[in-house]
This record gives sequence, C-alpha cells and structure tokens, in this order.
Amino acid sequence: MSKVTIIGATGNVGTFAAYAVSVDPHVHEILLYGREGREAFLKGLAQDFADSFAARGTNIRVTWTTSLKDVAGSDIVVITAGTPRGPGQNRLDLALGNARIIAPMARTIGTIAPDTKIIMVTNPVDVMTCVALKYSGLKPNQVFGLGTHLDSMRLKSLIASYFKVHVSEVHTRIIGEHGDSMVPLWSATTIGGIKISNLPAFAHLPVQDFIQSVKTSGEQIIKNKGSTVYGPGEAIATLVKTILGDENRILTVSAYVKSEVHGIGGVCIGVPARINKNGAFPVTIRIDESEVIAYRESVEKIRATIHQIIGE
Ligand code: 2OP
Repeated sequence: MSKVTIIGATGNVGTFAAYAVSVDPHVHEILLYGREGREAFLKGLAQDFADSFAARGTNIRVTWTTSLKDVAGSDIVVITAGTPRGPGQNRLDLALGNARIIAPMARTIGTIAPDTKIIMVTNPVDVMTCVALKYSGLKPNQVFGLGTHLDSMRLKSLIASYFKVHVSEVHTRIIGEHGDSMVPLWSATTIGGIKISNLPAFAHLPVQDFIQSVKTSGEQIIKNKGSTVYGPGEAIATLVKTILGDENRILTVSAYVKSEVHGIGGVCIGVPARINKNGAFPVTIRIDESEVIAYRESVEKIRATIHQIIGE
C-alpha cells in the first residue's frame, strides 16, 4: 500500500501532480497538504478527486490535511510549496523566502517520516533540494529534486520533431542547474541508439536555438498562461512511478553529488541518477571537456546561493 503526500496541493502544480500520480497503479493513498486557511479548498479538491477516481473505477483513498503530522507513513512526499518567482524578484530573494518555508517542513518530515523519499519541486529547485537534505537529516538518496528532468524532456521533444522521429528514439540529458547555467550533454545524446554527432544532419541542427528555447521555456509558459503545470506534473508522476515500481530507470534529477561527475560536486544538482524504491543514486559519468567547464560553473553558482542562504 503506497501513500504519496503532495505538499502545496492548493497550488497549480501541486493540484495537477496529485491528479497525475493517481493514474499510477502503485498509488493507494494520496494525502493533500495545504497551509491553514485553505481547508475549504483542500476539502473540495479531495471530494472532486474522489469523484474522478469513482468515475474512473479506481480505488484510491484521498485525504487532506493542514497538519504535517499526517505525513507520517508516506512513501513519497512531493514538495511544491513556496512562492513562485514574481516580477522583478531575483533568484536569491526567491531562494531566501522559499528556504524559510522548506527548512522547518523538511525538519518535521525527516522526524515523522524517516523512511520516506522527498521529491523537491519548489524553485530554485537545486538549492531547495540542498535545504531539504540538510534540514530533514535524511540520507542523500532519499532527497532529490525535479532538477533538469523536465529540461531534458523539453530538449528531447525538440530533437525528435527536428529529426521527425518518435520521442522514444531520442535519449538526451541536460545536467547542472535547473536555470540559466544548465548544460546540455550532446556527448550523451543519441537517436535510435546512434550518437547524434555521428548523424550528418547534426551539422545543421540549430543547437543554440534549441538550448535557448529550453532555457526560456518555463518563463515563456508563465508569461503566456501564468504557470507551468502539466509539464512539471507529468514529470513528477514519472518520478513517483519510477520509485514505487522500483524501476531502476536513469533520470536526470537534482541529487547530492559527491564526485560522480569528474570529481566535481558537494551540492545538489541535475545529474543522471538511477532511481528505485530506495531513492536516487547519481551515476558516475565522464563528459566532454567543454561540458566539464560549463558543469563546474553551474556547481559554483548553486554553491554560492547555498552559501548566501544557509552559510555553508
Ligand atoms: C519549469 O521549468 C518553472 O521550473 C518551472 O517548468
């Protein structure tokens, strides 16, 4: 019997993530957590979900709470709580504000659900994953963030439509920060199992346009419709399914890296990680020299923000 808790269930991403994980046959209970004052919304959401599960003919228990103690017994806690970036707000302001929300929550979750896995979604996600890891006291494999998984999927989709192939034929990874310093790994990009640089058409690929498009995708969607919802929601559902199904898939998530990428680490950052019922385990990889330089810059950027907000 698997219990998945969504923290921040009253937000757009939290609401859809709860719905997206409900299609996973491993999930038996969904707990919707929101802050005090949002009881009516949470109650209504739970009722609406219960109706949809009944209409679908599935037997999922859906509950709601404003008390973190109910998180006990969760197999997975998805954290989407916090403030999204507002106009004129810089990333550091956002990091400080959200760290103040995430740190006490993580401390409580670590105490009352010591065997859980935390999936961090709140931005800036790499920094918030580090905050949750530190304050929860859980093991590094138990705490990881959405990281560059969605960015990797965005790049995969662009490559698939350029080459007119099914998305499942494309494997690609973006590592580093979920932000401007993200690093696409062309050295790890294949189409139909063939390294992309071995395909003559690669010479004409609008590489810079693709990277720019992935980097600004979230921002563009926010500008056009207010928030990104279905992309992150489905990406969260994939992570939940990979954990509960003990699938050992390799996905690019924000995980604590010691030295798996060219000996450079010490922060939570987007890297390929093997994911199973015990959490996320970064894979030791070698990448091209130019990619190492860009990855190192990304690590230093995250490290500097962490230093400014938690002094480490
Ligand atoms: C996204 O990339 C904004 O982090 C959010 O969809």
